[in-house]
Amino acid sequence: MKSDPASVPLTARRNGPLAGRVRVPGDKSISIRALILGALTVGETKVSGLLEGEDVLNTAKALQALGARIDRTGEQAWSIHGTGVGGFAEPKAALDFGNSGTGCRLTLGAVAGCPITATFDGDASLRSRPMRRILDPLERIGAHAAVSANGRLPLTLKGARDPMPIVFEPPVPSAQLKSATLLAGLAAPGETVVIEAEATRDHTEKMLTHFGAQVRVEPTETGGRRIALVGQPELVPKPVAVPADPSSAAFPLIAALLVPGSDVILQGVMMNPLRTGLLTTLMEMGAAIEKLGERNEGGEDVADLRVRASALRGVEVPAARAPSMIDEYPVLAAAAAFAEGTTRMRGLKELRVKESDRLAATADLLRVNGVTIDIEGDDLIVHGKSRAPGGGTVTTHMDHRIAMSAIVLGLASERPVQIDDGTFIATSFPGFVDLMRGLGADLS
Ligand code: S3P
Repeated sequence: MKSDPASVPLTARRNGPLAGRVRVPGDKSISIRALILGALTVGETKVSGLLEGEDVLNTAKALQALGARIDRTGEQAWSIHGTGVGGFAEPKAALDFGNSGTGCRLTLGAVAGCPITATFDGDASLRSRPMRRILDPLERIGAHAAVSANGRLPLTLKGARDPMPIVFEPPVPSAQLKSATLLAGLAAPGETVVIEAEATRDHTEKMLTHFGAQVRVEPTETGGRRIALVGQPELVPKPVAVPADPSSAAFPLIAALLVPGSDVILQGVMMNPLRTGLLTTLMEMGAAIEKLGERNEGGEDVADLRVRASALRGVEVPAARAPSMIDEYPVLAAAAAFAEGTTRMRGLKELRVKESDRLAATADLLRVNGVTIDIEGDDLIVHGKSRAPGGGTVTTHMDHRIAMSAIVLGLASERPVQIDDGTFIATSFPGFVDLMRGLGADLS
């Protein structure tokens, strides 16, 4: 495990309106999947718009150690020469995924169908996150895991010599769990089926289809999805154009809603309906967000979002919406602090196992800045006012989204908000500070 870099505190202060037109970096989920599918495909996969964040770069290094050739050919332009399904080489050292749960868990799936042994590791945050949930389907497919009793990293996975197709019903709504199972199923003969009770982001299914695999997706009677993948396909390399990450766009977007007089355009933001729960919620809160130039880019719907400062009101966010906005609750909570009335976000259990315990970290970030909140079971309740005091120092717990959410709060609160460490922002949003300063934010 590499040692964590030195902490860099950051302070956000209220300033004039935010204005300008910006494009946030490429989507993290799609970037990681493009690398992994490229690594499983014989021939050259060209990726444009790749997110050059630490999570993606750590995943690229792990895939190189598994035998893929991965080269940077230009700004956000990458080329991958893969080994083919089941063709990974045994890595000489432990694979270090740093902070990246998605990189680690999806690569576990890809390795599970190869007859090799590999050790998976990460930083202190990733070492605290549950891996058992992923290992269960992978062991049914035929892999074996050597892992401590608490199911945490580091762990060693021995891939299956003869992978078996399975039918798997994930016990929690998780795109990582679904994706790891499908990636392992690539190496198995016959159909691997994942039945999800609630639909989660579908980037793996879409990209598998893009690379020529046979994937059948059907709605279930209970509002979920049945995804059937025919194993042992001949994957054909295809170019991947990565759209701007809606989960990253959420930070400048909410900052623009909260800082009086702001008017910002966010270009080319992915509008995949399984990722737009935050937009739905913000519109219900009264946010002035216009979708301009709606189009399809690289197989995903995208739009330019014009965002103007808005008076928000508190709303109820139903638990069923959680999978489509799971990473956006911390920054939504910052918006809720400024909304008139109470916002209740229901069913946030999964937030407890993200890069930090995000339910607790979000509650703390608001509390230390004078915002009144309650946690009832798995619900977060924010008692908003049109103003928030600020003045607190937020502990970010190696969590990029807690760091950026605290900064957004600080840009609109009465007194500055400090975070203990901004280094982890680079896992998903390199250039965040410069982009925000370019819009007029006071960050030091
Ligand atoms: C992701 C799925 C989500 C999300 C994560 C990215 C993905 O995690 O929180 O940031 O790319 O599949 P879960 O699958 O654990 O909900």
